Amino acid sequence: MGVLTKIREVTAEPEVSLPVGQILSGDCIEAMRSLPDASVDLVFADPPYNLQLGGDLNRPDGSHVDAVTDDWDRFDSFAAYDRFTRDWLAEARRVLKPDGALWVIGSYHNIYRVGAILQDIGFWLLNDIVWRKSNPMPNFRGTRFTNAHETLLWASMGEKARYQFNYTAMKTLNDELQMRSDWVIPICSGGERLKRDGHKVHPTQKPEALLYRVLLATTEKGDVVLDPFFGTGTTGAVAKRLGRQWIGCERDAAYREAAWDRIESALPLDESSLTTMQSRKNAPRVAFGSLVEAGFIAPGTELFDKKRRFSAKVRADGSLESGVEKGSIHGVGKVLQNAPSCNGWTFWHLEHEGAVKPLDALRQLYLLTIED
Ligand SMILES: C[S@@+](CC[C@H](N)C(=O)[O-])C[C@H]1O[C@@H](n2cnc3c(N)ncnc32)[C@H](O)[C@@H]1O
Repeated sequence: MGVLTKIREVTAEPEVSLPVGQILSGDCIEAMRSLPDASVDLVFADPPYNLQLGGDLNRPDGSHVDAVTDDWDRFDSFAAYDRFTRDWLAEARRVLKPDGALWVIGSYHNIYRVGAILQDIGFWLLNDIVWRKSNPMPNFRGTRFTNAHETLLWASMGEKARYQFNYTAMKTLNDELQMRSDWVIPICSGGERLKRDGHKVHPTQKPEALLYRVLLATTEKGDVVLDPFFGTGTTGAVAKRLGRQWIGCERDAAYREAAWDRIESALPLDESSLTTMQSRKNAPRVAFGSLVEAGFIAPGTELFDKKRRFSAKVRADGSLESGVEKGSIHGVGKVLQNAPSCNGWTFWHLEHEGAVKPLDALRQLYLLTIED
């Protein structure tokens, strides 16, 4: 079962135990009350949608759709749903560290209400991410557009609050392009979908890829992630893989059991593969010459700009030569373009393992080898 981590509060209070690696049973608002103030780094919440489905849903051929008709999704009115939302969001806010952050996923049924309430109680919206489902369920009755996305709200603790964002890791994940706010990810299906006796264990099991991106983008190794609506434990399984600590709340015993089985069989990635690209701000300064010295780039290698207008040869001391111009990667780039300045790391490219890459990609690889 779970391990207890000791966390120290800001005041001189005795140390308080944080139940990491545990699924707390019962109502999540009560369960969160047992957690200390300012103790978790991230809350990821997939709350009830309040779908208000009036009975079972069938396909045109009469077969049954495993949709969300469970009791946990029923609320008497919008007002009741709003009260519930305000209460769990208030607890989430209390347990978050001042530089922590909140993610909430939802659909058009609930996300606008949740978004307004979280702003009302002091959270600050950073992005709304559209999770575009590459394989959505059709609109069986043909009465509306196919509902092919869900929305994730990402919020910090306040307008001026700090928060974690692993910009470079996201850019790397996206083939060196800035990660956008529309994510195309398939819904959970195939071997990943938990089934019992041929039926889905849970109607709204989220894809691990979604949580992978959320956790990789906004947490660091060892951070504590709380999921108040744990369901089948998607957050816990991905957190374990990525070396993050997790706490779940789930009131349904069958879901808790399914989550346990799943998390126990999730394998953590080994230490070296958990290392991700660092932002330039945090990365140690690297001289181009260190890459030449370390054998990452051989003297004589030809560099060129993206449009191949200019080229230069790497010399043994890490300087470049292009015609009569000689100097650093930045200096030669600046003179050739007749520009006031040049960032040689992004300006110069080379052929590497069959692809054209900016020098910066090699610098990142080099950084991975020198991290402790
Ligand atoms: C939308 S599902 C979450 C699914 C989960 N993200 C997954 O991937 O499996 C919401 C879950 O919250 C649970 N739940 C609803 N209200 C709750 C409450 N007040 N306290 C604890 N759990 C609750 C439900 O039983 C359900 O499993």
